Amino acid sequence: MRRPLSDSEATARLIGPFAQLVTLEGLPLKGSLRDEQLIVREAVGIRVRGSEIMEIGPFERLAREARTEKIEIVELPGGRVGVPGFVDAHTHSCFAGSRARDYALRNSGSTYLEIAKAGGGIWDSVQQTRMAPPEVLEALLLKRIHRFLNAGITTLEVKSGYGLSVSEELKMLRVIRSASEKTEMDLVSTCLAAHTCPKDFQGSVPEYLQLLETELLPVLIAEGLTSRLDAFVEQSAFTPREIMPYLQKGKAVGFDLTLHADQFTTGGSGVAITCGALSADHLEASGPSEIQALAKSEVIATALPGASLGLGCGFTPSRALLDAGACLAIASDYNPGSAPMGDLLTQAALLGTFEKLSNAEVLAGITFRAAAALALKDRGRLVAGQKADIAVFQTDHYNEILYHQGQLRPVQVVKNGRLHLSKADSHES
Ligand code: NIG
Ligand code: FE
Repeated sequence: MRRPLSDSEATARLIGPFAQLVTLEGLPLKGSLRDEQLIVREAVGIRVRGSEIMEIGPFERLAREARTEKIEIVELPGGRVGVPGFVDAHTHSCFAGSRARDYALRNSGSTYLEIAKAGGGIWDSVQQTRMAPPEVLEALLLKRIHRFLNAGITTLEVKSGYGLSVSEELKMLRVIRSASEKTEMDLVSTCLAAHTCPKDFQGSVPEYLQLLETELLPVLIAEGLTSRLDAFVEQSAFTPREIMPYLQKGKAVGFDLTLHADQFTTGGSGVAITCGALSADHLEASGPSEIQALAKSEVIATALPGASLGLGCGFTPSRALLDAGACLAIASDYNPGSAPMGDLLTQAALLGTFEKLSNAEVLAGITFRAAAALALKDRGRLVAGQKADIAVFQTDHYNEILYHQGQLRPVQVVKNGRLHLSKADSHES
């Protein structure tokens, strides 16, 4: 959402050398991947102009040329491995308050309904987020963005969904837009006003969705606040039959769709396919027929291991989805309730361990395949013409990155062609 640099502002620089650069070039969008398919370039540099990769080639040659042309050289110490900056394609990073009580109650055996009755659940975050003034909400979001950037995430999706009224949803989406103007991070916002029917709404579920359709969607369009709609399709939120007209209307007026689908019960992934959604996220409950249907469709299956770890339930059947030929993205689902960890690299590595995914499949899931879930074609691979967003690790082999299950952090992050120095990572929310 930042103003693009003009040609004269677009500085050329050479970044390197990289002992290894895992480019992810040439890999297909869908289906399983073997590590042998990864293209790993050694002793290379990346010549950028502004935020774009111009050339990747032997560092020695590029450095000679750069010196002749007086191009800035950002010289990295030896033993650095670069991978595309990570894309976290599903988060609820805009919220106020904590749900630590839910966590304790869940682990002591309370059910979802009991927790909701005790004042927890999504509604608790709605009340805490509604109480927060926009500037407080924005400061919280910016702090989290800073942490994500240092963790190698260079594109971040952020949902609303803790407002659940026209004015409060607009407040959240305006906060996300305002934050995006103050950070290097590329933010992609999504309206999740259909997270659940709010407890204080005086009317039926269809009436709530009708209100969103008539009062909220036109403002989103008029203000250009977001081009994406999400909904939670679940027995405790919206049934397929209830949500379908809202999604179809949204699609008809130009929104891209993504869904919280098949988290506890099936039904949502079918809605995603019928509506032509970009992605169906969660899918922990998907069985063989849902997996086959997703694989045959163009809908991207997004696994959210952070929610499985947060709730203590099974992982998305990622191996089966890939083997069936689906496109698998992996996102953190960072939220105060079910996924408070907010650490994409750790979660993706753990998903790989439990679901037996190749490193190529995990890396693809948090780079170009995740970018595709956001309809972004300009990032996620390190090749000329793509965005110069790079997570840089201090190691001599890319296998070390996932092997350490999130404990090996990037030492540097290149965002839009500029070095963003990684700082000590504070895990405050
Ligand atoms: O993605 N499943 C629904 N929504 C969120 C949880 C939000 C919350 O509990 O606050 C999710 O897991
Ligand atoms: Fe979510």
